Amino acid sequence: MTLTKTYLVVLLIVTISMLFESTTNAIGIAIATKKPIRVRTPQARVWSMCKKLEDPSRAGICFKTILPKALTTPKFNIYKALEVETQAASVQINKTLAIITSLIPKYANNADVSGSLDCCKQQYEMMPDSITNAVAALAVRNAQEVNAQFSGILSYHTSCVDTFAESNDYPVAPFAADAKIVSDLATNCLDIAAAIMNRVKRTP
Ligand SMILES: *[C@@H]1O[C@H](CO)[C@@H](O)[C@H](O)[C@H]1NC(C)=O
Repeated sequence: MTLTKTYLVVLLIVTISMLFESTTNAIGIAIATKKPIRVRTPQARVWSMCKKLEDPSRAGICFKTILPKALTTPKFNIYKALEVETQAASVQINKTLAIITSLIPKYANNADVSGSLDCCKQQYEMMPDSITNAVAALAVRNAQEVNAQFSGILSYHTSCVDTFAESNDYPVAPFAADAKIVSDLATNCLDIAAAIMNRVKRTP
């Protein structure tokens, strides 16, 4: 009976440690010492943050974009992670805007697509200002404002792709893959900012 209880407790601890630490190394240590040890390798820290994102399909891009900086930045924390993801979003926004601009002359003979591309260009041109505002808000650790700026970016993105969705000939934007990355990165920033807001609320 007692043995079963002990076994269950150990099992519970191991399970919990598996939930919190994704490295097999941490599980090994947890089993050996019968207590969970928080192994804070940069990989474990970034992964534990990225896998908490609302949509797990975005955890991969979160990990891939944030880890390189986590490995080289001392005292890496969630604010730094948000800064890195914001930069990644900025790079991708500029890249996508350049693609949209380059597509405009190619579709000059198609009024439908031209109109959608013009609309997308306008929407995407508003994003760098939001990024600037987000960076400024992040500098004073105003996660709520960062969250609001990325929510703005996501609505510009949606307005853009929606104009294509309404088109019969081209329901998918010719730059859809790049726009999807903008949306993924911006949503990650939104989620990380929300995670900071929740954490600040919990710690008085
Ligand atoms: C994106 O473009 C804006 C506006 O042109 C510029 O200020 C910003 O530095 C660019 N972002 C990156 C990451 O290069």
